[in-house]
Amino acid sequence: MDWTGYGTEAERALETAATPEQLEEVSVRYLGRKSPLKLALREVRSREQGMELNAVRERLEAARDAAGARISAAELDRALTQDRVDVTLPSELLDGDGIVAPWRGAYHPTTQIRRIVEDAFLGLGYEIRDDREVETVEYNFDKLAFPEWHPTRSPRDTFFLDERTVLRTETSPSQIHIMEEKQPPIYMVSIGRVYRRDAITPTRFPIFHQFEGLAVDKGLALSDLKGTLLHVMRALFGDDRRVRFRTHYFPFTEPSIEPDVSCGVCGGQGCPTCKWTGWIELGGAGMVDPRVFANVGLDPDEWSGFAFGCGLERAAQLRYDIPTIRPFWENDLRFLRQF
Ligand code: PHE
Repeated sequence: MDWTGYGTEAERALETAATPEQLEEVSVRYLGRKSPLKLALREVRSREQGMELNAVRERLEAARDAAGARISAAELDRALTQDRVDVTLPSELLDGDGIVAPWRGAYHPTTQIRRIVEDAFLGLGYEIRDDREVETVEYNFDKLAFPEWHPTRSPRDTFFLDERTVLRTETSPSQIHIMEEKQPPIYMVSIGRVYRRDAITPTRFPIFHQFEGLAVDKGLALSDLKGTLLHVMRALFGDDRRVRFRTHYFPFTEPSIEPDVSCGVCGGQGCPTCKWTGWIELGGAGMVDPRVFANVGLDPDEWSGFAFGCGLERAAQLRYDIPTIRPFWENDLRFLRQF
C-alpha cells in the first residue's frame, strides 16, 4: 500500500468537503474503524511500519480537525449574513432550568384581591358596583352624617377640587347612591379607588382601593354583619388567620366596630407592618345609623342594615405577607411577577 499516496488523496478529500455530512463521510472513509488505515494499524508487525502509519493518521486527524473548523466557521458566516430574526415570533424565557413557557402576564395583586372579594360576595347574592371618584361634599360627608367638626372634612386630610367637590375619601358614598336609587332589600359591594392626603408610610399611600358593603333589609342584626365579615375574611386569608372585632366610631354606623386580622408578616409577634401590635386593622364596619336612613328617606323603624369598608391593598398585604403598600403603586415587574 502506498501510504503517502493514501494520505495525499485523503487530505485532498478532507479539504474539499463543504458540509458537515461530507466531512463525516470522508472521515469515515479514510479514518474510520474500517478504513484501510485503521485496519492496517491493527496488523502492524514492525516498528518502522507502525511509525509510518501513525504519522499518516496524525496528519489526517489534523486535516480533519482543520476541515471541521473551516466548515463551522463558514456555517456561522452564512447564518450571520442570511438568517433573519422574526421579532413577531413568541418569545422564550430562560430560567435556571432552561427554556420555560413565555410569561403571559398576571393580574395585579390588587386585582386578584378584588376578584376574591367579588366572588365571595357574588356567592352571597350581593350586587357589585362601581361609583365616581370625584364626589361632592354632600355625598362624601353630609349624607353620611359626618359632623361639621369631623377632621376628615379638612383640606389637610382630604383633596378638595373646590369647596363642594372632593376626591372621595372612602367608598361609603356608594351607600347613599344605591339607597337613593332603589328600594331595599339591598345587598351591594362597591369597589374602587379612594384618596387621602396621607404621607407615605409602610401602611399608608395617598391613593388606594376599598371595597364597601351595604346590606339593608328587615331585621338585620350585628350578628349578620359579623358572619358576613367572617365569610369574606376566610375567603381572603384562610382559616389560620385570627380575626377580632373592636368597638370603634364612624359617623354613619351605630354601633361601629373595627375588624382586625392577625399579622402574617410576623405571625402576631409584632413588626413595623402591624406597628408592633400583632394585629392589622382591616377597615371599619357597623350597623347603619338611623340618621343615614333618614337622609335617604328610609324609615329607620322599618329598615335595618349593616355596612363595612376595607382597603384592598391592606387585604393583599395580609394575604400575601407584603410588608409595605408602596410596591402596589410602583409597577416594578420584579415585584408583580411574584403573584
Ligand atoms: N368608610 C370607612 C373607612 O374608610 C370604613 C367603613 C365603611 C366603616 C362602612 C363603617 C361602615 O374607614
